[in-house]
Amino acid sequence: MAQVAAEPRYAAWMSSPRLTVLGTGYLGATHAACMAELGFEVLGLDVDPDKVAQLQSGHVPFYEPGLTEVLERNLASGRLRFTTSYQEVGAFGDVHFLCVGTPQKAGEYAADLGHVDACVHALVAQLRPRSLVVGKSTVPTGTAHRLQPLIEAAGARLAWNPEFLREGFAVADTLHPDRLVIGVSDPADEATLRTVYAPLLAAGVPMVVTDFATAELVKVSANAFLATKISFINAMAEVCEVTGADVTRLSEALSYDTRIGGRFLTAGLGFGGGCLPKDIRAFMARAGELGVDQALSFLREVDAINLRRRARVVDLARELLDGSFGASRVAVLGAAFKPDSDDVRDSPALDVAAAVARQGAVVKVYDPQAMANAQRTHPQLSYADSIEDCLGGADLVLHLTEWKQFRALDPAATKQLVAAPRLVDGRNALDPKAWRDAGWTYRALGRP
Ligand code: UGA
Repeated sequence: MAQVAAEPRYAAWMSSPRLTVLGTGYLGATHAACMAELGFEVLGLDVDPDKVAQLQSGHVPFYEPGLTEVLERNLASGRLRFTTSYQEVGAFGDVHFLCVGTPQKAGEYAADLGHVDACVHALVAQLRPRSLVVGKSTVPTGTAHRLQPLIEAAGARLAWNPEFLREGFAVADTLHPDRLVIGVSDPADEATLRTVYAPLLAAGVPMVVTDFATAELVKVSANAFLATKISFINAMAEVCEVTGADVTRLSEALSYDTRIGGRFLTAGLGFGGGCLPKDIRAFMARAGELGVDQALSFLREVDAINLRRRARVVDLARELLDGSFGASRVAVLGAAFKPDSDDVRDSPALDVAAAVARQGAVVKVYDPQAMANAQRTHPQLSYADSIEDCLGGADLVLHLTEWKQFRALDPAATKQLVAAPRLVDGRNALDPKAWRDAGWTYRALGRP
């Protein structure tokens, strides 16, 4: 005990803890920069020296609106630095945030916890006694319970604090979250996290304090609910397609019921990205391990509805080309899994583009931010330098990611660029009347 009390940082850190952030992807880089913005001294770590060098020089290695400014400001203030050294992290940090990725395992539904385990093992070798490790990565329930003894053996503590930020809104979601959730096994750890999040708590952000398992479950159940909401409206779109109804009006009418609400109720090509698809699969896998697979069997249908929408866009496209892709030129607008992101993980747009190309079409893709990532994951596709280059001479246009640049296209001017004015609006984001009035054959999901 005497040795611990002599720890020089301990007296200071209940008022001003020094933070580290392990993993500098979309979540970690944003968390590090935003915690520095809140006034803390922050050290970010990544095992990739290239990423660390980029961040240290003020360059965000991915597209996230507003993040560069926060990064630059806090590097300049001296509150924020990056390193590849766990030794430096262990010596510096009072509170360590785990922000590494948990992707889907190849060929399985379960999450791959390799990065989490490697990070925790490297960290425990360097941890100072009494420091607090805070898991933010999305993990199967039971993970915190499994990691706790390892961390406590190093004299440190563990808490779980899931993250709900959306790509494209990551800075705002981190600085103004709608809630904070912390899973703790000791009130002292709650007190530490209340110090860390004091500026947000002072601004009125609600904090739910709970156990490890509930904190882990809040995260995956939130994503499962959001995925279910999207697949629900997409299932309605399937019914609309055979009844002549219009899913966009249906969704609008549902949205006025405040118990339902209109957010995440846009029918279209469905969900993709690095979170929703793999999280519902990992959740199903974990439920199976826990013997409650029946409780989540509906998520299988949520996943299936979502994937059917991609097939439906391919079918609509083929129909518009009179039954065969032949050597038709298809312009694909969008590669990112959603607008305001350069993330192409499980991108519905690229999935459709690849399927159409496999069936013989000559595909050209354009995206305002995701071109480099798309070229890396889908090198077999052709890429355009601009919207105009993409559309030029096209026999069919597929609108698959609703960037504002695409939503702002003028139907009459666009018609001048293409060989034939045929359009599938995979995101229900364009005005059908305006496009039809300009002479386009307009098709969309779930509406006439
Ligand atoms: C999602 C959650 O929204 C975040 O709360 C969570 O923190 C994050 O996952 C995560 O687990 O890290 P994100 O993956 O950034 O965030 O993307 P969303 O904005 O949720 O969109 C997901 C997909 O759903 C996109 O492909 C989007 O196009 C699609 N979507 C969204 C629809 O098809 N319809 C809608 O009405 C809304």
